[in-house]
Amino acid sequence: MDRISKAVQLAAEKRQTNRSHKKLSRSESAQPFEYTHTRRVALDPELVHENRLIVNCEQQIIVDAYKLLRTRVLHRMQQNGWRALGITSPGANVGKTLTSVNLAISIAMKHENTVVLVDADLRRPSVHKCLGIEPEYGLLDYLDGNVAVSDLLINPEIDGFVVIPSHTDGNARSSERLSSTRMEKLVGELTARYPDRLVLFDLPPILVGDDVEAFSPYLDAFLLVVEDGKTDMAEYAKTLEILENEDVLGTVLNKSDEIGGGYDYYY
Ligand SMILES: Nc1ncnc2c1ncn2[C@@H]1O[C@H](COP(=O)(O)OP(=O)(O)OP(=O)(O)O)[C@@H](O)[C@H]1O
Ligand SMILES: [Mg+2]
Repeated sequence: MDRISKAVQLAAEKRQTNRSHKKLSRSESAQPFEYTHTRRVALDPELVHENRLIVNCEQQIIVDAYKLLRTRVLHRMQQNGWRALGITSPGANVGKTLTSVNLAISIAMKHENTVVLVDADLRRPSVHKCLGIEPEYGLLDYLDGNVAVSDLLINPEIDGFVVIPSHTDGNARSSERLSSTRMEKLVGELTARYPDRLVLFDLPPILVGDDVEAFSPYLDAFLLVVEDGKTDMAEYAKTLEILENEDVLGTVLNKSDEIGGGYDYYY
């Protein structure tokens, strides 16, 4: 086991000991997502395969790993009455977006839950690329007051799964936009309506700027992603320190050869 694997495991053990028990009431029965204004877009099966999405994936070990992650995430979120989960990492390019997309798909596979995935990485938005879709509008159009929430919604022809994509516009004010009252209103709207809807936010890396910290007040919990053999120990420790007062559900040890075919999850 290499050093980052050990560090992730140690952090998980420590968190297990310190775990808070903020149990709220379990949510009531599920309601379907309202698709009235949602654009439906078909996914390209070749791209789905190339981009490692778990739609029609024949590698059961991969699907099972995401289902395990889903079940653990759902339990913690439901036990606490939480709806808004941010996915981040210490540094770039470790697999946050792929983890967010596959986690969202695996949640939607469980028919009593629905999920909205928001691309909140305003620096390098890539949820639409990962899904191979070309959005008409993005999160910035909403944050800048040009379109309504309903104009943003895309259903990639997976029941119970809605995406809010994003794009860059060369404007560097990403943390100000993420912490704006309009963003707060959006999170409120997405999380308030249906008790069994989870809202996932694909975030930028935590150590590249103040975006994640600026947005954290709107989130209930975090999921971390690290890359086996690549994420630096000191960066991981720094990330845990920054998130010390936040609820971190756990760390996904991505691209690991050791156990589970590259998609391990320490809880
Ligand atoms: N478990 C995995 N096995 C193989 N390739 C992977 C895995 N996870 C992610 N990748 C690949 O690694 C690259 C980076 O993944 P992704 O875009 O999800 O990372 P990211 O952390 O969101 O990056 P960024 O910091 O730019 O937002 C992509 O090409 C993706 O397909
Ligand atoms: Mg990404």
